[in-house]
Formats: sequence, structure tokens, C-alpha cells
Amino acid sequence: MIARQIHPGILSLVALDWDRRIFDQLVPLHEGTTYNSYLIRGSEKTALVETVYPPFTADYLETLKQAGVTRLDYIVADHAEQDHSGSIPAVLAHYPEAKVVTNARCKGLIKESMLVAEDRFIEVKEGDTLSLGNKTLRFYLTPWVHWPDTMVTYLAEDKVLFTCDFFGSHLASSELFADDEQRVYTAAKSYYAEIMMPFRNHIQNHLKKLAPLAIETIAPGHGPVYRRPAFILDLYRQWAVAPPRRQVIIPYVSMYDSTTRMVDYLTDSLMERGIAVKPFNMVGGDAGRFAVALVEASTVVFATPAVLAGPHPDIVSAAYLTNALRPKTKFVATIGSFGWGGNVVSKKIEELLAGLKTQIQFFEPVLTKGLPTGEDFHALDRLVEQIDVANKSIVAAA
Ligand code: FEO
Repeated sequence: MIARQIHPGILSLVALDWDRRIFDQLVPLHEGTTYNSYLIRGSEKTALVETVYPPFTADYLETLKQAGVTRLDYIVADHAEQDHSGSIPAVLAHYPEAKVVTNARCKGLIKESMLVAEDRFIEVKEGDTLSLGNKTLRFYLTPWVHWPDTMVTYLAEDKVLFTCDFFGSHLASSELFADDEQRVYTAAKSYYAEIMMPFRNHIQNHLKKLAPLAIETIAPGHGPVYRRPAFILDLYRQWAVAPPRRQVIIPYVSMYDSTTRMVDYLTDSLMERGIAVKPFNMVGGDAGRFAVALVEASTVVFATPAVLAGPHPDIVSAAYLTNALRPKTKFVATIGSFGWGGNVVSKKIEELLAGLKTQIQFFEPVLTKGLPTGEDFHALDRLVEQIDVANKSIVAAA
């Protein structure tokens, strides 16, 4: 680990986890990740913002020593999850005068999960400030990006916003700054899809709250530092606030070609109307890619054969994931085939999407007995017409 300057008096200490392949045993990582800690030296006090994931603690403490940190006054914890706060007990043991500065909710979680004593904390509330001498930290509560405890820390004199998980990316890179925006875009969008999207409504409020701040640098807890903050702020506005795009995604499974024929017909028909469409074969598919597609899609068409009195399990999984990730999808349809008793398929999918029912319009399902024939394709034509009209209404609203 090395310490690198992001502003005068502010060092970045990045624990690079090049080979990590899954996060929280849930989120697939394609480019590893980082755990970013920041060392701020004021004229009177020294503070850390975040620590690192416990496997990197020894290296982290050595890097602090190499950076000449003999006394530490504060450890600001913007979030209790162990990938950022897991080294706090070791840092407190190493620097006995240091106090953990955080909000009440984060304090409770750190006490419970890391057994840190009450007298090692300084509790802060919305808008509180902490002076380091010539540098001042101000705290803003931003719950649910990613847990209910999350907050951000603003360094007023340098116009740096420390955001922990918020605006992060799972991207292990030797680059300190997010200057390769195309590369960071891909990682940041996956991160948003898999971690932030369920909290879209909270993000909308946080973006409003942070809008008045003059921000020259966003220093997240994962991935490179943004020295052009508009890059990631504009993306979050597009992903979390803007209406969905006129895009259709089709998670599908087919056992004996009937559903595939329907998916192919639907895909071609949508393309003929100039509507963006992307089918995803969910058998052995990449749930992460599907999650990214959900970020901006207006319409999801679940395509499945009837299996054991319900949708195929991989489509059940796709519908469950859609419900859990809370995308801004507005329209849903079910298509597919059955040999007998097919009506259970669409009902089950609607049940799985119960969390989105106030925002979603369900179109009439198109279910065929066996291979699709003339009337089935006419029914798909009607579905395409409905999708087209509905999507045009979104464009008009935007
Ligand atoms: Fe990066 Fe929610 O921790």
C-alpha cells in the first residue's frame, strides 16, 4: 500500500484487492475492488476518513507509520460495514488517543460488530462540524447508501466530499483518479445496479441535499477518486432521477424452442419499430449484466416455459432480482409457452414483482400452447404495439 496526495494535506491510502471475485457473497466483481482510506492533516489535528478491510490492516498501519503518523486524533467512520470500518479496533489500539467520529446509528453498529467501547466515540449529527485547525469537516447524514447508518463528510476548505460507498466503483486500479472515465463508467454502473439501485429514492433526496455544496473532488470508499465530480453526479442523476430509457430487456429461458421463437419474433418486431431491445438467456447467464440492463430499461418482458406449475426457476430468479433491485421499470409483460396449465406463469411473475406494483403496468400475457402459430404472433404484434405506445408516453413525459 502506498500513500498518495489528492489535495495538499490529504493523502489517499488505497487497499487494492485485485483478486476479489465476490462482495458480501452476493455481488460478482469483475475487476476486484479497493478499500479507500484518507488521511487529513490539519494545522492542529489529524484525522482518518474510513479505514480498510481487516485483511489489509497490517499493511495499512505500516503505511500510516511510513507517512509519519505518530499521533491520530480522529477516525471518521461514514459507514460501519467492515470493508471500511473493520480496521477501527486495530487503529484505536495503535493510536490510544484517537476517537471514532460518527453518527448514532453507525456508532451502534460499530459497537455491536466490533466491540468498540462507548468512550472511544464522538457522536455527530446532521450539519455538525469538526475542526482540524485550518481544515473543517462537516457531516451530512445520507442513510441507505448503503446501510441505514451511512453519512458523507465534506471538507469545506478543500471542497472535497468523502462519500464511502456512495458514488463508488468496484475497480482495482493503479490509477488514483477516475480520469479514464469510460473504464470507470462501466464499473460504476455495475456498482450502482447491484448495490445502490434499491435505494434510488434515498439517492434522489441525497443528491438534492448535496447540490448546494461546492465540490471539486469526490473521494469514495471504493474505486478511483473523481476530480471531475460532474462525471459521477450526472450519471447518478441519469440513473436514479431521470425517467427510464425507451429500452426493452427480455430475460428468457426456452426448453423446446417455443419460447425462443417468441423472443426472436418480439425482438425483431421491436427493432423494426426502432425500440432498443436486448434478450438475456438466463440459463447460466450473468445476473450482473442483467442488473446493469435494469438500470435504465423502461420495459421488462419475462419469457419462460411453464415448468412444474410455474415459470422456469431461472426466470423466477430474474423476477425476484428485479423486485429486489427496485429499478425504475414501468412496464412488464410475460410471454412463453406451456404444454398444459400455462396460466400460472404470469400470475407468479406478478406476485414476484409485488414490491414494484405501484410503478408498473402489466401488459396482457402472451402464452402459447406448444409452438407459436398465427394467432400467437398476432398477439405478440399487439404486445409490441402496446410497448411502443407506452414507451412513447415516457419520452413525452421526459
Ligand atoms: Fe463498502 Fe457497504 O460497504
